[in-house]
Amino acid sequence: SMNVPSLHSIYKDYFPIGAAVNSTTLHSDKDLLAKHFNSLTAENEMKFENLQPKENEFTFDKADEMLNFASDNNMKFRGHTLVWHNQTPEWVFTENDGSTVTRENLLNRMENHISTVMGRYKGRIYSWDVVNEAISDESSEFLRKSNWLEIIGEDFISKAFEMAHKTDPAAALFYNDYNESNPEKREKIYRLVKSLVEREVPIHGVGLQAHWNVSQPSIDHIREAIERYASLGMQIQITEMDVSAFDWDDRRTDLTKPTEKMAEMQTRRFEEFFQLFREYKEIITSVTFWGISDSYTWLNDFPVKGRKNWPFVLDEKGEPKESFWKII
Ligand code: XIL
Repeated sequence: SMNVPSLHSIYKDYFPIGAAVNSTTLHSDKDLLAKHFNSLTAENEMKFENLQPKENEFTFDKADEMLNFASDNNMKFRGHTLVWHNQTPEWVFTENDGSTVTRENLLNRMENHISTVMGRYKGRIYSWDVVNEAISDESSEFLRKSNWLEIIGEDFISKAFEMAHKTDPAAALFYNDYNESNPEKREKIYRLVKSLVEREVPIHGVGLQAHWNVSQPSIDHIREAIERYASLGMQIQITEMDVSAFDWDDRRTDLTKPTEKMAEMQTRRFEEFFQLFREYKEIITSVTFWGISDSYTWLNDFPVKGRKNWPFVLDEKGEPKESFWKII
């Protein structure tokens, strides 16, 4: 409504405020988007399986529509994502005869994908998630087991960054991951990024996905993660923020709205998170929510299928929640 200020305008001296959109919400929420956000990310539409479902058959319609909406509304755009173990079609890792692709052919496919996708949007995308979620969550393991790792080897990561930089030298290139504030995983991300920096691989930032909840992670752990990555000269972006109303272990399915306690905790958390982000405005170059309002979130199907969640600062009607007023 008229008296609600624009979130991104309030934050103009800090950082752009982003939202992840899909082909549905781009239309249903276009007024909210234009009002509160000045950066967009495609929730799924720029992932490998959507952009190149078959070899050399690129489908750019949905991504183009999002980019055009962003340009028409003076918004920036984040690219998500080029090299990931999920939402990548099987053909990528398979030869025509059904055998596993050779290292050389997989590198060629990686290069073809990166140069075609990034090349098409060159100059229009300020940051790219070049490699997503390559670190393992297991204590005993460094890199996650994936087709990329197993077929190419550890240098699949540096190769991807080099190809990306060659295609669009002006884009800020990111390594993006979740559980990014957990001290054990943080140190593995740090070790990966440090080795890239030492080898002069073109990497410019670390993306904190920020799939957080009402009790985890602590502000101290988030602060330590920001400091640690920034100590390598990296810029930081908050790339996929949502704050689940449920604790991770809470698998209840009977709530039709958050309890008063959950709602209060969430408000407090949002207030603290944004206070912290503002402190680091020299380092944080955008803050993106993984959605727009509580009317739709991928958390309705994760980690409990079909359970409604309410992880944003705008409610199901797109109106400000208590947390919205706290963060502005
Ligand atoms: C999620 C989307 O939100 C869902 O619609 C899809 O089914 C699965 O992927 N980390 C990422 C995002 O990097 O791409 C994921 O997005 C959420 C976790």
